[in-house]
Amino acid sequence: MDFKNKIIVAIDTIDSDNALRLTKIIPDVGAFKLGLEYFCANGPEGIKLISDTGVKIFLDLKFHDIPNTVAGAIKAILNLQPYMITVHTSGGYDMLRKANEIVTEYCHLKSIKRPLILGVSVLTSIDKNDFSYLGIEGTVEDQVIRLAKLAKDAGLDGLVSSAKELKIIRKEIGKDLLLVTPGIRPIGGEINDQKRIVTPSQAINDGANFLVIGRPITASKDPRKSLDDISKEI
Ligand code: C5P
Repeated sequence: MDFKNKIIVAIDTIDSDNALRLTKIIPDVGAFKLGLEYFCANGPEGIKLISDTGVKIFLDLKFHDIPNTVAGAIKAILNLQPYMITVHTSGGYDMLRKANEIVTEYCHLKSIKRPLILGVSVLTSIDKNDFSYLGIEGTVEDQVIRLAKLAKDAGLDGLVSSAKELKIIRKEIGKDLLLVTPGIRPIGGEINDQKRIVTPSQAINDGANFLVIGRPITASKDPRKSLDDISKEI
C-alpha cells in the first residue's frame, strides 16, 4: 500500500523557489503545508505559484479572531482553492460555526471544492505554566479533549494535534474527526527541535489520518528517497 498520500510536507521557508523545487521532486504527497511565514512573505500570489503546479495546498494560517473577521479572511483565501485550512479551536464555538458556514456558502456560490477545515488544539509550545497564566484548569490532555469536542460540535472536519494525544482523542471522539499530526520522526532520523516525537507507523497505528513532516524530507539531501523510505516504513 502507498502511504505517500497521507504525508503532508511542511514547507517552513519563505523561499518560493525552494518550495517549487520540492513540488517537482515529490509531487505525489498528500499536500504541501504553507504557513504564516510563507504567506506573509509571498502573499496569495506565492500560494498560487505552488498550487499551479497541481499539488494540493494545506494553507495553515491558524485564524483566530471575532467570527466576522475570521469569516472575511477565510472568504478571501477560498479563491486559492486550498485543500485544507486551519482555525484555532480556542476562538470558540461561534467563530468555528461561522467559519464552517462561510466555507459551505462561498464554495457553493463559486462552485469550488470545499476545503477541509481543521481546528488547531493546544499548541505544543504551550505548557502547564501557560495554563496557570491563562486560568485553564486541568492537564494539557484535558484541554485537548475539550477542544476536540468543540471542533466536532462545530462541524469541523478535523483536528491538528500532537501524536502523543492521538489515542486519547480517538477514544473520546471516535472516527468523526480527521487527525492531522506533526512531530513525526522516522526511526534513526534527526530529532531537530521536536521533543515529543513519534514514528510515522506509530502515528498511523494510533489513529492519525495525515502526518505533517518537514525537515526529515525538506532538509534531506535526497527528498525523493526520504519520502519513499517513510512511506515504506509505514
Ligand atoms: O520539520 P518538522 O517535521 O519538525 O516540521 C513540523 C511542522 O509541523 C512544522 O511546520 C511545525 O511548525 C508544525 N507543527 C509542529 N507542532 C505543532 C504544530 C505544528 O511541529 N504542534
